[in-house]
Amino acid sequence: MVNLKAKYSGIVSELKSAAPFEPELALILGSGLGDFADKINRLKSISTNEIKGFPESTVEGHQGKIHFCEYENKKLVVFQGRLHFYEGYNLSDCLIPVHIAANLNAKSLILTNAAGGINSNFKPGDLMLITQFFSFNIKKELSNIFRLPSVELRNSFSNFPSKNLNDRIKEAALKEKIFIQQGTYWYGKGPSYETPAEIKMLANLGVDAVGMSTVHEAIYAKILGMNVAAVSCITNYAAGITSEKLSHKEVMETAEKVKDPFERLIKKLVELI
Ligand code: HPA
Repeated sequence: MVNLKAKYSGIVSELKSAAPFEPELALILGSGLGDFADKINRLKSISTNEIKGFPESTVEGHQGKIHFCEYENKKLVVFQGRLHFYEGYNLSDCLIPVHIAANLNAKSLILTNAAGGINSNFKPGDLMLITQFFSFNIKKELSNIFRLPSVELRNSFSNFPSKNLNDRIKEAALKEKIFIQQGTYWYGKGPSYETPAEIKMLANLGVDAVGMSTVHEAIYAKILGMNVAAVSCITNYAAGITSEKLSHKEVMETAEKVKDPFERLIKKLVELI
């Protein structure tokens, strides 16, 4: 049993004293989507490798920076890069950004990620609002790090994701004339992409998009009392959907192509929240 509050109290107090303000909104930027952080007014940026005890981010496209930003009179903390299981991190490491955001008193969390599309209506370059978070094992893992009464866990998952935030995301897309898909997101830990057989099974279970992050972060944020919503960038067809070989390069290239609509969507969303 890990006591995250105790384990990360040093990181939290360092960030609390470094923070120029108490953010109302937290944003975690996924693979290749980190450039958004360069487009808004940053009051203060901190490299995570300057923070004592913060695990090092190792993935291309994930910078490992925490920015305190202002946009449209909103105060934001933006995590440019996240920690993944496939880098060798454990669950409590992967939850650090959410833990920080909640402890800085951010009320809402917007998660973004790159994902493989399973739904036959999806194509690379689409954005998808996550309407359901799905995983096989997350509750068991969370129960390994938290000792929560089961009733508390049960009650935690109404309005998950936040209807209000999801409505704002749809409104932002409409206002920016960006087409946005909707669907269920499933995550695996990687490190490899899924096999075609796994994708076939997930399709049968009603999964629309797959990735390697977000679900555990969303669940933890919800348990900590935050409002949560998430947007995926569909960067590729999931394994076996086409005969093409999947690669991180393709993921990064597609994410690069959707940078513009993605940035416009998130900016409008921040304005509307
Ligand atoms: N599978 C898992 N993770 C991903 C994918 C995928 O197809 N694309 C981007 N991240």
